[in-house]
Amino acid sequence: MIIECERCRTKFSLDEGALRIIPCKVRCSVCRYIFILGKPTAAAAAGTQKTQAKPAAPQSDQTAAAATAQEPTYPDSSHCKVLVFSNQKGGVAKTTTCLNLGMALAQLKKRVLLIDFDVQANLTLALGYQDTPSFYDVLASGNGTMGRTVIKTRYSGLSLLPANENMVLLDKKYLRTKNFEYILKKQLAPIKHRYDFILIDTPPSIGFFTLNALTAANTTVIPCQCDFFATQGLERLVKLIDLVKTKTNPDIGYAVLATMYDPNSTASKLILTKLKERYGDKTFKAVICADTKVKEAQIMRVPLMSYSRQSDAGEQYMRLAKELI
Ligand SMILES: Nc1ncnc2c1ncn2[C@@H]1O[C@H](COP(=O)(O)OP(=O)(O)OP(=O)(O)O)[C@@H](O)[C@H]1O
Ligand SMILES: [Mg+2]
Repeated sequence: MIIECERCRTKFSLDEGALRIIPCKVRCSVCRYIFILGKPTAAAAAGTQKTQAKPAAPQSDQTAAAATAQEPTYPDSSHCKVLVFSNQKGGVAKTTTCLNLGMALAQLKKRVLLIDFDVQANLTLALGYQDTPSFYDVLASGNGTMGRTVIKTRYSGLSLLPANENMVLLDKKYLRTKNFEYILKKQLAPIKHRYDFILIDTPPSIGFFTLNALTAANTTVIPCQCDFFATQGLERLVKLIDLVKTKTNPDIGYAVLATMYDPNSTASKLILTKLKERYGDKTFKAVICADTKVKEAQIMRVPLMSYSRQSDAGEQYMRLAKELI
């Protein structure tokens, strides 16, 4: 029979002989959504034999094995929140925020996984790593290798899936393939329960990495530098998030974070006011100031939250972490 996932609408050909009992729970192997196969319809309840899983004409290029009750089930991971840091504008503090918010959460005793999903590998470098296996190697070595590729950093509670330059090949290889947006979500499923927060740093472009991260996430954090040009791309990103909501991730939300705020600059104050007017409660209360300690920490290749937790930006990242929790 042909069945269709209720969420991502992927069709699967399923061997009826593999099903011992109907109705039963099945898990979509593409988006991991669990739904009931053979759920009685109103008509069936009224006495007719129709069910949701009525056979359809074969038309899928997907293989059968996909959605059966025998699919591996993973421990409950509903406690884990996945945040993606995204903005097509470069240099607005996506990486700095991902790193220091992650550190702040780890300092508050949360189990945190940082994912460097940017070929520039700035997050990886900022933590002092280089030439380590990345998501490219996870896909090259097959399912189940995500856990082995994640590094436990020297900071308690903080793990990292590093980036390397091979990742550039993934954009070319997968971008035009069907359902490529679900690849990260699927790879995270077996390890997600180990973490309270998963934070994904993305590049300043829309492609394989950003679309995968948006599909896997609960919330998009949009760092916005307090600068006129930086605010211009926000509406485009919000439209993209709305599109992702309709296509691959109905549960995704977003919140804007003002970064590199200068309390002595009228321009900064004006922009912060405009952000709050436009995005209302979708703006974080915490605001991150421009602080030279951020750059010093980067040069030392340590997170600001380790280099100078008492600095202005350090305290603001801690406030942001508490706001999130
Ligand atoms: N609060 C801050 N105070 C001062 N400098 C900052 C602050 N936050 C970030 N920076 C600096 O701004 C620059 C850009 O930051 P970052 O690399 O985090 O941005 P990004 O959005 O990740 O950039 P890209 O789009 O290239 O990935 C870096 O040099 C960083 O040190
Ligand atoms: Mg970056």
